[in-house]
Amino acid sequence: MEKFVEVLADKTALIARSRDLILEKIQTAISQRGQFTIALSGGGTPKPLYEALAAESLPWDKIHIFWGDERYVPPQHPDSNQLMARQAWLDRVDLPETHIHPMPTEADNPTADAQAHEAQLKAFFPEAQDFPAFDLILLGIGDDGHTASLFPHTEALEVRDRWVTIGNKDGQPRITFTIPLINHARCVLFLVAGASKQTALEHILAEEGDPLQYPARFIQPQGELYWLLDRAAGSVIEDR
Ligand code: 6PG
Repeated sequence: MEKFVEVLADKTALIARSRDLILEKIQTAISQRGQFTIALSGGGTPKPLYEALAAESLPWDKIHIFWGDERYVPPQHPDSNQLMARQAWLDRVDLPETHIHPMPTEADNPTADAQAHEAQLKAFFPEAQDFPAFDLILLGIGDDGHTASLFPHTEALEVRDRWVTIGNKDGQPRITFTIPLINHARCVLFLVAGASKQTALEHILAEEGDPLQYPARFIQPQGELYWLLDRAAGSVIEDR
């Protein structure tokens, strides 16, 4: 694993740096493998990044969009990660609908939807032995140190034999990639902004710490790991 931690001056610089890094990864993947696969994160932090990517002219016919996690709500629900990304980016560009691979949330049975999505991923990555290698997985962190929908002290943290599982946010189900799937990525990019993330960052990036308490510590990908932070979040790291 190659690990990079960068503290950018502010949110604007953070979004510009993350956009440029993603554009670089798109170019590399398409030149080496003919396509680029990215899994998106939800929450508020990545929205301006998606808006920035919507302004780029890219080979949309070679790009495939997935999600690292999803709230268990219908696709039109205001809390839907899919809806946020579509409104900020995907519905604004000429991306074939067949290249958008949302997590299903309408079976009224999270386990069935998680299994269905795993089957969809296995059909898309038929060559994958144990886990697929996404070109890039975009992640955020919560103030509690969760990432994707891998929350502290939840069962999802123990799943090692599946690609997709059920997250549990205060009793509310989520669909989420598992830790081993995320760690098979060629590149994982954490995008973190705001002072409220300082304490979690200190525990996550410390030499020693409890991954069950701060699940983002479990993310140690076989490829590259980027932590892109704005100064409001990353000043604690700079001052170490
Ligand atoms: C989600 C996310 C989640 C998010 C963090 C940070 O569905 O909520 O995927 O893991 O990245 O909660 O959210 P903010 O960017 O809103 O702080």
